[in-house]
Amino acid sequence: MPNKLRAAITGVNGWVPEDRLTNADLEKMVDTSDEWITTRTGIKERRILRTPGWATSDMAAEAVRGLMLKTGLLPGEIDLLIVATVTADMVFPDTANTVCDKIGAKNAFGFDINAACSGFLYALATGAQFIVAGAYEKVVVVGADMMSSITDYTDRNTCVLFGDGAGAVLLEGRRDGTGIQDFVLRGDGAGREFLHMKSGGSLRPPSHETVDRREHYVYQEGKRVFKFAVEGMVSTAQEVLRRNHKTVDEVDWVVPHQANMRIITSVAEHLGVPMEKVMVNIHKYGNTTAATIPLCLWEYEDRLKKGDNLILTAFGGGFTWGSIYLKWAY
Ligand code: COA
Repeated sequence: MPNKLRAAITGVNGWVPEDRLTNADLEKMVDTSDEWITTRTGIKERRILRTPGWATSDMAAEAVRGLMLKTGLLPGEIDLLIVATVTADMVFPDTANTVCDKIGAKNAFGFDINAACSGFLYALATGAQFIVAGAYEKVVVVGADMMSSITDYTDRNTCVLFGDGAGAVLLEGRRDGTGIQDFVLRGDGAGREFLHMKSGGSLRPPSHETVDRREHYVYQEGKRVFKFAVEGMVSTAQEVLRRNHKTVDEVDWVVPHQANMRIITSVAEHLGVPMEKVMVNIHKYGNTTAATIPLCLWEYEDRLKKGDNLILTAFGGGFTWGSIYLKWAY
């Protein structure tokens, strides 16, 4: 239906800190090796935010400033700004309102979405509803995480995986058949056991004891998460394709959450998509949680064509997972 109003991504931008944490650096910090990290995860280096006084909102604001420059969007034109993150500047207020303040988006309101590595997909689907409903015309969706702020650099099981970064997209209405066609989003709170931060919330407020027990960092049972991640990404990608009568051959790009190169290749194999059609930048940035998918779109932007069929797919803490099917708009 070409005339149907759909929410389309009409611009994308990314921002990563300059400081790199390489596998060689990590070899000096914990008992690990470049060989182990490369073969088990595909990661070679990650970016770490070390600018004093900067936090997730600053990376998000940089990503959005660049987005405005690229698209000609003025701060006052933004109606709504959503930030997907698990590393909000503060428990409250939300990061989105801080970003609106920093970029001068005086007419916007905003809110955060906490869905871990699926956060960008949840936020994109949410932002799209405001466009499709006709409520707003310009919605900015950001995925931003400063994972270094919740990573235990004495724990080799997790510290090799994560990095910092932010990506932002502009959503606008289109009636030419492009834009978000459909989405399948899922959640299962029983998965919280395997991937969480133990303390700092209302369940276990911060105390000397929680700090001494190093409970303010990502806790993950990697093997368990790995299995669920592949299943969740593959099943929702297949469901959204089936529902829209699309075959895998019609998919131009798969944009997977970048958690582990082995998860990415396994998802591609199960779907039957060749790796040439799969966006990958995990070797440079590691897992930036909510930022991985917009950072991929940003880096592959000049290879995308109007009408390309994209499957965005992610899995993360919660558990949360899902897939979005969209037609690229430019
Ligand atoms: N360097 C060297 N050895 C390490 C290591 C490191 N950085 N981290 C863990 N190991 C060790 C473990 O201690 C373990 O040793 P043991 O057998 O003596 O106990 C061994 O390597 C194997 O660990 P295992 O857990 O089997 O590795 P794995 O192949 O499952 O890979 C992950 C570990 C974390 C990379 C992998 O499970 C993973 O990526 N999981 C999913 C991550 C994810 O998607 N997270 C976010 C969701 S969005």
